[in-house]
Amino acid sequence: MDNAAINGKKIAAGKAVEYIKNGMTVGLGTGSTAYWAIQNIGEKVKAGLSVRAVATSIQSEELARQLQIPIIPFSEVDRLDVTIDGADEVDPQLNLIKGGGGALLREKIVAAATKFYIIIVDESKLVRQLGHFPLPVEVAPFAWELTERRLAALGGNPKMRLAEGKPYLTDNQHYILDCSFGSIADPALLHRQVSDITGVMEDGFFIGMADIVVAGSPSGETRILKKGE
Ligand code: 5RP
Repeated sequence: MDNAAINGKKIAAGKAVEYIKNGMTVGLGTGSTAYWAIQNIGEKVKAGLSVRAVATSIQSEELARQLQIPIIPFSEVDRLDVTIDGADEVDPQLNLIKGGGGALLREKIVAAATKFYIIIVDESKLVRQLGHFPLPVEVAPFAWELTERRLAALGGNPKMRLAEGKPYLTDNQHYILDCSFGSIADPALLHRQVSDITGVMEDGFFIGMADIVVAGSPSGETRILKKGE
């Protein structure tokens, strides 16, 4: 990853963390951009900020624990005040493709329980139409070949995500099929079609979920995009 992207991620993360206030219950995202947000929250906790957090992956939970951010079981809360997470692509309506880091199912459960959902990206993730980044689809290992054929029939050209030559396993012990649909004119429709396939646990479309997107530029500026604007 180049320095410009790293800078954009760090800047966006710093801006987003300003939305976190004392006493809030916070969702922690996953990935290299969310990493900076968690680091930043850790610094604030060290300086006296009082929050409780739920993590979207084992990796983010471990990082949060190292930074002394209090982690609570998700089952203990119904609603999160704020969640800060990254994305792989963001379109002008703030629809997202997520799941490049493989945490999409937990990320979506956390997002759906969040009152104010903040996405942080470096500005290279802002696109006119979703689809250049392959859509991650989390599937049950049982009869995954059948699910793969259904996704292929939709035009997704699915590819099993691998780790060290074996199928990558999510934190929920599922597989991921990365699907290349090309430029996606109607993400909401495709989301419904993919979700309708039995065996699909979740897809990487986050439609209408983000309240704001904070985009960081390499030169250190942030742009805040708001839902409905
Ligand atoms: C993980 C995700 C990440 O938020 C997404 O892949 C962006 O990652 P990064 O911040 O490393 O570019 O959805 O499942």
